[in-house]
Amino acid sequence: MSNIHDTAMANAFVSGKVELPERLRALTERRTRLLGTAYRLMYDTPLYVERGEGAWLIDPDGRRYLDAYNNVTSLGHCNQNVTDAICRQASTLATNTRYLQDIILDYSELLLSTFSPELENVIYTCTGSEANDLAYRIAKSYTSGTGVIVTETAYHGITDAVSQFSPSLGPNVPLGAHVFTVAAPDAYRLGKDAGEKFDTDIDKALETMRARGIRPAALIVDSMLTSDGVLAEPVGFLKGAAAKMRATRGIYIADEVQPGFGRTGSHMWGFERHGVSPDIVTMGKPMGNGHPVAGLVARAEVVNEFGAKARYFNTFGGNAVSCAAALAVLQTIQQDDLLSNASAIGALLRERLRGVAQRHGQIGDVRGAGLMIGVEIVRDDGGQTPDKIEAARIVNGMRNDGVLISSCGANHNVLKVRPPLIFTPEHVEIFVAALERTLAKQ
Ligand SMILES: Cc1ncc(COP(=O)(O)O)c(C=O)c1O
Repeated sequence: MSNIHDTAMANAFVSGKVELPERLRALTERRTRLLGTAYRLMYDTPLYVERGEGAWLIDPDGRRYLDAYNNVTSLGHCNQNVTDAICRQASTLATNTRYLQDIILDYSELLLSTFSPELENVIYTCTGSEANDLAYRIAKSYTSGTGVIVTETAYHGITDAVSQFSPSLGPNVPLGAHVFTVAAPDAYRLGKDAGEKFDTDIDKALETMRARGIRPAALIVDSMLTSDGVLAEPVGFLKGAAAKMRATRGIYIADEVQPGFGRTGSHMWGFERHGVSPDIVTMGKPMGNGHPVAGLVARAEVVNEFGAKARYFNTFGGNAVSCAAALAVLQTIQQDDLLSNASAIGALLRERLRGVAQRHGQIGDVRGAGLMIGVEIVRDDGGQTPDKIEAARIVNGMRNDGVLISSCGANHNVLKVRPPLIFTPEHVEIFVAALERTLAKQ
């Protein structure tokens, strides 16, 4: 049995920390025996799930957990439009991008129509990591540089190249010598100055890169800084940073794997909140509502430079079934106007959380956009000192109460709340009641 003490992943299950019921103990042991030690489970008492339905995950005993964490299934678990589209396509044709087919073009047209016209090409992958890996390859080819700037607790994925610019993987996964980090803008502590400081930090990173003789390739930022602690403010902070990167002939990659497809409510894409236009946008997670489909959208000039030199084929990326799933997802988001729902329900949830914060001093800040929400947990002494122990207590307390969230941020003290875009006012009330009970249990 593994005995992993993971300091890099917030909310990781640590074997032996809590005594598990026999069934869970046997399952975790079997898992470790079969899958080895690289995987992590979440929560002190891992969750054993059998099926999903809308905003709910259900265990083998029929106990229902309100899922306010899984941003992949943003239309809700097992959405009928998506499962129907997958079944239809899988029983008609399931093959790759080396043949002429309508479905990939139908989807690409709809997807590209959600971007401004200068972003005119799309390339498909299976995961967000692959999309970022390809984006970086294209950036290196286009700029002839290698230097990358990311935020201090960024996560962009798992390939060799991408893990080298994913500092949230922790100190045992070293950053590349070509990677430079900047502090994420902390508007909770710095107010409006957070944007200016971010700009200054980008300048400093570019200076250091220059001093080391490294030519810039890309600035890559998750537009909601999810793993840095869900940082939505100050609006516009990405604009100056992207301009600075471009002034050095580097490119700006918006990582929309987390905030894309309407999660921020006001816009389909998180970078739009900042009034900036990227050279490349990477996406994944909710793109297939659980079906593995991901990709990137880019300026044609950038793609052409790469395409003239290198051939791109990804056996499963852009296959017909993935395109059918993705088409059903985007059509459902648009037809059901889920952006408006994300805006309205996200605002309601933040308002209710701010009410809870007035009664519980350990909530220092409630922030976010749409249904991407961060709740910063601090010591209950009127200051702003991060309290990761209390955050972990709340995450696990909520799980035991039947509501699923996790935590993030450099100090693991920000509750990460990402419910499906179909969340309702009733779900908000269930969420808030569980949080109140958990906070009161101190
Ligand atoms: C911002 C961001 N980028 C990229 C990825 C990698 O995506 P995937 O797990 O599909 O490879 C993730 C995954 O959590 C992510 O959060």
